[in-house]
Amino acid sequence: MVKAITSQELDPQAFIAEKIQAIRAAVGEERAINALSGGVDSSTVTVLGHRALGDRLRTIFVENGLMREDEAEQVVDLFRSLGVNVEVVDAREEFFAALKGVTDPEAKREAITQTFYRQVFGRLVRESGARFLLQGTILTDIDETVAGIKRQHNVFAQLGIDPEEAFGYRILEPLVELRKDGMRKVGEALGLPPELFTRIPFPGPALAARVIGEVTPERIQTVRLATAVVERRLAGFGAFQYLAILHEDRVTGMREGRREFGQQIEVRCWDSVDAGTARPTRLPFELLEDLAREIVETVPGVVSVTYNIATKPPSTIEAV
Ligand code: XMP
Repeated sequence: MVKAITSQELDPQAFIAEKIQAIRAAVGEERAINALSGGVDSSTVTVLGHRALGDRLRTIFVENGLMREDEAEQVVDLFRSLGVNVEVVDAREEFFAALKGVTDPEAKREAITQTFYRQVFGRLVRESGARFLLQGTILTDIDETVAGIKRQHNVFAQLGIDPEEAFGYRILEPLVELRKDGMRKVGEALGLPPELFTRIPFPGPALAARVIGEVTPERIQTVRLATAVVERRLAGFGAFQYLAILHEDRVTGMREGRREFGQQIEVRCWDSVDAGTARPTRLPFELLEDLAREIVETVPGVVSVTYNIATKPPSTIEAV
């Protein structure tokens, strides 16, 4: 059992100093590797790891083909400004190959987990000679996984999976005593920029969590374009999270006087405190109309846009 450090009792500088020592002690003269997605947890562990290990920590952004527009570039630029070199590894083909023909939501999530940890990361770790994988797991990830609410892709030991046996490397989780608020304090103390903490949540399976049915490069591109419009137009309304979902069913539409059997995008915008329950944000109708107009004009093949008005539960925030 991991003992929690509450955000009230946390002394970020003392915590950072202690974890730097612990990472150095564990890794010794070996090398470590970590994957950076640009989310708060992996960003915090990246900076902490570089403080501890310098160049002996290799930081990789896995381009899985499922990320939002320009995401790799933005993450690399941000970390360059923090003095951390991030390597981008192109694994798009492997992820799309693993997702080919897969339509069941849990099977899709599992395909992404396996491709990431076993295939892509397993290979990178072997090639780099690193013995350690540094990971930004926090206590909430473990709680939710153990409670069976949501299987987090970064939780293994608590599920009885030995990563050394399963994947060939040891996992270090220096943030595991913290919850989100404590982790933010540590991230801020490490000098991460405030924009990072105000970003809306984004799921581990990335845009694949927003494609109903088969995940293909084309379908991801459709949801990626719609996501960019939604994120730009719905920023600044104080919503907890907003996203676009690509449906599998087609509907009859018309464009330039001709019938078009087109695709449907569902927009979701949630008010929530902790993502456990959520309700749709009461957005102005004019805003929704403008949003729909921009999506049908700029996203090829889309003829229908809907706004989800059901609550979580029974909905969930993502669609997959
Ligand atoms: P759901 O869809 O379960 O999402 O209502 C609740 C919150 O969690 C995010 N989410 C994930 N985050 N890995 C993550 O790190 C995942 O696999 C994952 N699935 C959902 C979701 O965006 C929302 O904020």
